Amino acid sequence: MELSEKLIHKYEEDGLLFLPEYFSDREISILQNELSHLPEDAPGKVLENNKKTVRALHGCHEYSEIFKSVVRHPRLLKPVMQILKKSVYLYQFKVNMKAAFTGDSWPWHQDYTFWSKEDYLPTSEAISVSIFLDEVNHFNSPIYFIPGSHKGGLIDIEGQMEDRSKKGTDWEASFSANLKYCLDCTTVTQMVKKRGMLAPVGSKGSVILFHSNIAHASTPNISPYDRRQIIISYSSIKNIPIPKNQPRPAFLVCRDYNPLQPEKDDVLLSLIYDTINC
Ligand code: SIN
Ligand code: MN
Repeated sequence: MELSEKLIHKYEEDGLLFLPEYFSDREISILQNELSHLPEDAPGKVLENNKKTVRALHGCHEYSEIFKSVVRHPRLLKPVMQILKKSVYLYQFKVNMKAAFTGDSWPWHQDYTFWSKEDYLPTSEAISVSIFLDEVNHFNSPIYFIPGSHKGGLIDIEGQMEDRSKKGTDWEASFSANLKYCLDCTTVTQMVKKRGMLAPVGSKGSVILFHSNIAHASTPNISPYDRRQIIISYSSIKNIPIPKNQPRPAFLVCRDYNPLQPEKDDVLLSLIYDTINC
């Protein structure tokens, strides 16, 4: 699918674009089914602070044909390339589980802070897409965004950070509820006063495209409804991390910078068809 000029303009103004009911129920059940059959001991699994609930799974595209194909799905890849006006490679793949009752918060942050500080990604020329694997409603902690906040670029958080040493230095500190780089309350209050907040809700299969500099967050999920989302981050092929220090593990930050080629529109359905027929 190609985006209209109007939708591209909306993305550029807001830093996000909500595409309701973008994947069919059948496509979403293929993704849900794949998720429930992933190996227990896959690398890149992050638990919530209760040490029981799975918070997120990273890099599943490395061992799942279905997740590998969704990364190349033309309904995602084409709009992303259209907005960035470049070919893209896969930067990060994760599934955020946000489990009923126990899924914890994501404090206010900008994704590009992590990518710049941890991976030395030169610019914010990157877009994430979130695919709803469950309905997202007012109760199961939709992601809150501050529309237009990407326009201010990366906010300098050095002066406003709490003692970061308390937050851990390993890669999990970028993914736990005790997030390593977050925006403080004064900054968020000022931004929201100026720009307001948005929290897209909708049926499973809906998609959000969002800019790597947009401020976003979510609350703990105290509802009885799971809120699982695949989040795929793409970066322009002109924007490649500069190797320094110890790079983060490959299941978190991909090392393959080759441009992604779009698959056919029915790629998910045809994979299942092939499995049934072999
Ligand atoms: C994220 O910022 O990567 C995830 C936010 C969420 O799933 O609530
Ligand atoms: Mn984020």
